[in-house]
Amino acid sequence: MLALVLVLALCCCSGAEEIKIGACIYRFNDAFMLRFRNAMAEESGNAGAVITMADGQDDQNTQDAQIDDFIANGVNVLIVNPVDRMSSQAIIDKAKAANIPVVFINREPTPEMLATYDKAYYIGAKAEESGTQSGQLIADYFKAHPEADKNHDGKIQFVLLRGQNGHQDMILRSKYSVEAIRDAGFEPVEVAGAIANWDKFEAMTIMNAFFMAIGAENIEAVIANNDEMALGAVEVLKANDYNTGNPEAYIPVVGVDANASALEEMKTGGLLGTVLNDAENQGTAAVRLAVALASGKDTGSIGYGITDGKYIWVPYRKVTRGE
Ligand code: GAL
Ligand code: CA
Repeated sequence: MLALVLVLALCCCSGAEEIKIGACIYRFNDAFMLRFRNAMAEESGNAGAVITMADGQDDQNTQDAQIDDFIANGVNVLIVNPVDRMSSQAIIDKAKAANIPVVFINREPTPEMLATYDKAYYIGAKAEESGTQSGQLIADYFKAHPEADKNHDGKIQFVLLRGQNGHQDMILRSKYSVEAIRDAGFEPVEVAGAIANWDKFEAMTIMNAFFMAIGAENIEAVIANNDEMALGAVEVLKANDYNTGNPEAYIPVVGVDANASALEEMKTGGLLGTVLNDAENQGTAAVRLAVALASGKDTGSIGYGITDGKYIWVPYRKVTRGE
């Protein structure tokens, strides 16, 4: 009798039953998160797990209700891309009360929050790394093209397009891109900067205003916290006959993500470069970790190393034309 009970218990824990994953995405309408969702859907298929994804529509209250629903419907594990990463504690508390693991992605809870639950994890990429790399892309360009320093003052006059307020990628990419320029021996000067919320159209409106107010001759580079905003800037430049092939009318623009649309724009020369934000590996790792945790399997054999018992870090990589 006892043996039978043990066997049954083992069956349940060894994944014989289908794992149900509830995944909360801050907003479906985000080019980078679309890549992330595709990777998670594919890996769930490979793992024989059932994943349900909910669109938080950039609203934390909406997402909180979705988390409640997932828990009420008996998901075995949560994957959460919080709308507001500072709301992660409440999410951790709910997961803990339901005794299900929670894997955060893309928007990083604080270490203090993660420490409150042994089944809370974070999968992402080190934001400062992407900042450094995008600044290096600009510095490398100025080294190879001294004429890019249009006013010959040894400084790089740049426009900075920032992502959403409070996001670690907005804070650290902004900081480290500028620092990388300085480390390369140029003095960075921010001639204009604004928050464009990762959004191409917001970036277009802002860039257009900057372009009119400052003048193209006073802008030597554009640094955007992501590709969508970089592409918005490129569109404005092109509409003003910049970055269309005339070397006399060119402003180097860099983004982050390496979305397909950015790679296209690099081919035709509108965009100087970007940094690969590896949604494919992050999404795959998130699902593998979620499945391992939900089925009680060894998290050491998922193919991605876990750091400090809490983190999976996926590296960034610079991408320039021809790569
Ligand atoms: C960043 C990405 C942005 C945006 C954001 C959403 O990592 O570079 O494009 O998707 O995440 O949180
Ligand atoms: Ca200059």
